[in-house]
Amino acid sequence: MGVTIAALIVLSLLQSIAAEPRPEFALSAPVRGTSRVGLAASEANAAISVVNNATLSFTIRYNLTLLNQVFSAVQTVANDFQPLGTTVISSINALASNASGDVDTVFGAALAAVANASSYVTDRMPNITTPLILLVGKPLIEKFEDSFQHIGKALSALNVTLIGLQQGARNAQAAVGVDGTLTSAIVSSYMRSSLITDLVKGLQLLRATVPVLKYTVDSTIEGIAIADQYMLDLANRVALTLGEKSSIAADLDGIIVAIGSAITNTTTSIGTDLSSLQGNFSSLTNVAAAANGSAILALLGDYAANLADLRNKTPSVDTVLGSLKDSVINVYAVAAPLFIIQDSYVVNALIATLIANAEYSQYCFYKYKDFFFSMLDRVSIDARECVDKEVTRLEYFRTTIELMLDVLYYDYEDIAGDLTVCNGISNQANLDECITSLADIYKRLEAAFGDMFALGYGTIAREIAASGSRLKICLRLSQSSLGESDLPLLLEKITICTKDGPNGDEE
Ligand SMILES: *[C@@H]1O[C@H](CO)[C@@H](O)[C@H](O)[C@H]1NC(C)=O
Ligand SMILES: *[C@@H]1O[C@H](CO)[C@@H](O)[C@H](O)[C@H]1NC(C)=O
Ligand SMILES: *[C@@H]1O[C@H](CO)[C@@H](O)[C@H](O)[C@H]1NC(C)=O
Ligand SMILES: *[C@@H]1O[C@H](CO)[C@@H](O)[C@H](O)[C@H]1NC(C)=O
Ligand SMILES: *[C@@H]1O[C@H](CO)[C@@H](O)[C@H](O)[C@H]1NC(C)=O
Ligand SMILES: *[C@@H]1O[C@H](CO)[C@@H](O)[C@H](O)[C@H]1NC(C)=O
Ligand SMILES: *[C@@H]1O[C@H](CO)[C@@H](O)[C@H](O)[C@H]1NC(C)=O
Ligand SMILES: *[C@@H]1O[C@H](CO)[C@@H](O)[C@H](O)[C@H]1NC(C)=O
Ligand SMILES: *[C@@H]1O[C@H](CO)[C@@H](O)[C@H](O)[C@H]1NC(C)=O
Repeated sequence: MGVTIAALIVLSLLQSIAAEPRPEFALSAPVRGTSRVGLAASEANAAISVVNNATLSFTIRYNLTLLNQVFSAVQTVANDFQPLGTTVISSINALASNASGDVDTVFGAALAAVANASSYVTDRMPNITTPLILLVGKPLIEKFEDSFQHIGKALSALNVTLIGLQQGARNAQAAVGVDGTLTSAIVSSYMRSSLITDLVKGLQLLRATVPVLKYTVDSTIEGIAIADQYMLDLANRVALTLGEKSSIAADLDGIIVAIGSAITNTTTSIGTDLSSLQGNFSSLTNVAAAANGSAILALLGDYAANLADLRNKTPSVDTVLGSLKDSVINVYAVAAPLFIIQDSYVVNALIATLIANAEYSQYCFYKYKDFFFSMLDRVSIDARECVDKEVTRLEYFRTTIELMLDVLYYDYEDIAGDLTVCNGISNQANLDECITSLADIYKRLEAAFGDMFALGYGTIAREIAASGSRLKICLRLSQSSLGESDLPLLLEKITICTKDGPNGDEE
């Protein structure tokens, strides 16, 4: 009746669990060596259960597509294999603990689990790993394939053994017939103990080969973790360097503010003088009453209007001066391949090299990783040198502007004295003549005074534009080697290193 074929293996597994024979199942005698099956199965299971360990609580902190994609693929493969392998073990366990006599179903399930795990590498893995070729080349995929080739040998051995055991079970069933009673002796003669040993060996081989896959997973995750930390560090340094950009621009502020305040102070002081002159005018009663006295008052208004004209210039003097900083800020675009690290082809190459998990991956990464940091430092140092040179030049310009400003006072400083002299004249004709001639002289001086303002504004605008150009040229020259040769050269070196390792050094 209920012939318990699989009970043989049941026995072996239960024996291993209880560490003693369990002869109460259909078979009355324990089978030699069966306790080893359960032990081997549990050891294989232990190896399989940790295969995806490294991916479990791993999170990427720096959002780089490359890292996310490679991690996701590795995680998927590890997570896929883990249940496939576990099912192989659990189906062999189920087989062993099943006394139903339904040989084909129970063995069928175990064989299907083996086949499923075995075909993963060809059937399902390529969909996951093929997109990685574009990102990190083939080394990682080859490592996966190699791992599964090793595991495949174990699965193949289990396949052969299970087929052998299944056949033995069928034969034992056939020997006793439907109504016969299966004995230990019959079972032993159809399911030889060497088959049990083979099953143990198959499980041991599985336990021994799964760590190759785990190593591939672990070492790739390790690379991704290093890359992730590196990207965070690099992003920090970029932020510092970009902050440096504004501190370098701030260096220009000193001189810009000095020039601006010299202009403001002088125009303010001239403005005060002129309002005072205008305010005092009515107290010069003779002058105010003279025939051309109103012309004098109008002139004083013309003088003051020049100040308002300067204040109303577009762009304002302050804007013109401030534009100098844009030159520094704009020119940082040259070093963009360093700054925009998300899109940088060189950074990408370095990270791809690292997480490709190829022969020289870590060697090449560590060899070149600090180059980016020194390049970023150089950008700042060069920019500061250019700005320092320009600040020295602008210092001369500031002196020039101050001399120009000082000259402005000459155009009106005698007015008060001259008017006081005229005001002292009591003879009307002489007074009128005095005032008319003053009006005549100061009309021309006022025109010259106005010209000085227009000229001054033009000089400042031109000089600041020239200064901006000089800064740009200086910064671009210092950074051109970066964009045009240093970064491409670094990319080339990384590429050669990835291919040839330490032998790639031709220098
Ligand atoms: C695997 O992960 C489990 C659960 O997170 C943990 O208990 C175990 O120690 C890990 N094993 C290894 C070998 O890392
Ligand atoms: C990560 O980067 C991608 C592409 O740059 C972007 O679409 C996505 O929103 C980012 N995710 C997070 C969490 O920042
Ligand atoms: C044994 O296998 C048969 C057929 O698949 C199934 O119906 C039965 O539930 C199994 N018994 C045990 C104890 O797993
Ligand atoms: C094979 O594996 C897939 C995915 O893990 C699963 O959905 C399927 O049920 C498995 N088939 C067998 C026969 O174990
Ligand atoms: C198991 O063995 C059979 C018969 O030799 C074969 O057809 C099948 O491909 C094998 N399966 C595996 C996973 O090795
Ligand atoms: C593999 O990818 C292709 C294209 O993306 C898809 O059509 C197919 O269903 C995938 N196959 C499996 C087994 O996931
Ligand atoms: C302008 O005036 C302010 C306030 O009186 C003074 O602090 C500053 O040094 C002056 N600037 C120049 C360039 O003379
Ligand atoms: C205006 O008059 C006041 C008071 O008499 C005098 O102190 C001041 O110097 C005068 N202003 C000018 C510009 O002469
Ligand atoms: C007032 O000035 C005008 C223009 O300079 C001159 O022609 C005229 O003679 C002056 N008037 C007197 C009364 O001096």
